[in-house]
Amino acid sequence: MADYWNIAPGMENALKECFSREVEADVTLEFVIPEKDFNNAGKGSSEVKNLLKRLGVDSEILRRIAVASYEAEINVAAHSVGGKMTSLIYDDMIHIKFEDNGPGIADIKQAMVPGYSTADDLVREFGFGAGLGLPNIEKNSDALHISSEAGQATLVEFLIFFS
Ligand SMILES: Nc1ncnc2c1ncn2[C@@H]1O[C@H](COP(=O)(O)OP(=O)(O)OP(=O)(O)O)[C@@H](O)[C@H]1O
Ligand SMILES: [Mg+2]
Repeated sequence: MADYWNIAPGMENALKECFSREVEADVTLEFVIPEKDFNNAGKGSSEVKNLLKRLGVDSEILRRIAVASYEAEINVAAHSVGGKMTSLIYDDMIHIKFEDNGPGIADIKQAMVPGYSTADDLVREFGFGAGLGLPNIEKNSDALHISSEAGQATLVEFLIFFS
């Protein structure tokens, strides 16, 4: 498996620990993301956003969470055979994981380049395929981890702190 990390220099240990917190999250939400189901893809992200809004999370941070989670959710629907989204909400941050069942990303560095897309015609008909989702996830998250390889499942997970 190839691993891609985007973590601010000097924060590696602290943030990697946040990706594997031992303490249980206060709230855990799970959504199934079926392949090419663009009528429902995005619902997980919007439910998480609504819950965090009720919990009083700052609106600019909410916007970042909404953008990053929506892009990752659409990617699972658009580019994989389907998967799930798991949101782990703590008092200080949210950790959202997207795990799908393949076909994987052969070159994660290339997939991160703005404008790079392998979206098929159907995906483009729904308005996706600009190649900007992954760069947007990176821009809006405090830490990003992607683990994948050709022919394997993909894990995209990120952290966003509430302050
Ligand atoms: N879960 C995934 N499984 C397999 N490949 C993926 C996955 N997520 C992203 N990719 C690959 O990375 C590429 C870039 O993803 P990105 O989200 O940046 O752009 P896009 O989805 O093609 O277009 P946009 O997000 O702008 O609608 C995709 O075209 C696809 O090749
Ligand atoms: Mg995308």
